Amino acid sequence: MKNIFVNPIFWEGDHICIIDQTKLPVELVYEGCRDISSVWRAVKKLKVRGAPLIGIAAAMGFVLGLRRSKVKTWPGLLQEARKISRYLASARPTAVNLFWALGRMVRVVEAHEGEDKKRLLLFLKKEADAILSEDIRMCFQMSRHAACLVKNGDSLLTVCNAGGLATSGYGTALGVFYRAHEEGKSIKVYACETRPLLQGARLTTWELLHNKIDVTLICDNMAADLMRLGRIDAVFVGADRIAANGDFANKIGTYSLAVLAYYHKIPFYCVAPSSTLDLSLGSGKEIPIEQRDPLEVTSFYFKKPIAPTGVHVFNPAFDITPASFISAIITEKGLIRKPFGRNLRRLHGRLSQK
Ligand code: MRU
Repeated sequence: MKNIFVNPIFWEGDHICIIDQTKLPVELVYEGCRDISSVWRAVKKLKVRGAPLIGIAAAMGFVLGLRRSKVKTWPGLLQEARKISRYLASARPTAVNLFWALGRMVRVVEAHEGEDKKRLLLFLKKEADAILSEDIRMCFQMSRHAACLVKNGDSLLTVCNAGGLATSGYGTALGVFYRAHEEGKSIKVYACETRPLLQGARLTTWELLHNKIDVTLICDNMAADLMRLGRIDAVFVGADRIAANGDFANKIGTYSLAVLAYYHKIPFYCVAPSSTLDLSLGSGKEIPIEQRDPLEVTSFYFKKPIAPTGVHVFNPAFDITPASFISAIITEKGLIRKPFGRNLRRLHGRLSQK
């Protein structure tokens, strides 16, 4: 637990407190979310981001939403719960953890037919707390399963931020690095800056520096050269949604790293909890990809314009990495190798409905 140095989300009295990640690394600002629309906005604007964390935030936001509702009877509350779920789900389309968490919350309401509002809210708060604590446990378990993949002296590459800030505090891909560090292995991490919103430059380096891990920032277009120079031993990334055949969505730029790693014969690992699995989708082609504001591309972090006004922009927030480029997927249940379709099903069976 010693590497949970920051708490990206927590209850403070009757409201939720989040770190506004858009302000990092310049300022560490905590913001209170007192109603459901402030939670929706925080997710939409990436104040709260990373697949597991947006699931946790949605579950907590759900509690706020139902608490504020004026409805008192169970049938009315069920209707309201479904409405709240649809609203929070509309904040971002790709990370399945959001829908997975909201599905769990709605099922709590469904399972307590006739319950009065006060008791229902207790059950819902308990479920949101369980989603948070399960994520902590899953991150630790993944880091243990992946420990054998990191050797003393390795140089490791990552993209975006799949760390404590993207989860309940420890991280998926970065959790593997924390674990290696805790085991006394000397590792060096290269962090891709991750244009356009710079989660690698702003968040991953911040986290790793705080945890005293040797980190070097690179621009996204420098990864190929590092690999050609033989300076990368393995690539570890997180995921936003993993389809039944092992294809997965993650931050834009992940696919190009996977192709590069494959070409240079470097192992490429995807680290994600089962809340990121969507076995209802046959392949990555079915994963909805979020398209974001052109301003993210035409300006440097919304400040300085870096392109002429009116230029066409393509700005998908995620891309799909085909299963064929992945060496292994690591979930809390273990290390999964090819064929991913069969082995994901074998380890995770039929997961609960998203
Ligand atoms: O747009 P973001 O910052 O929410 O994207 C986050 C990522 O792509 C992460 O790699 C992914 O959610 C895994 S986080 C453990």
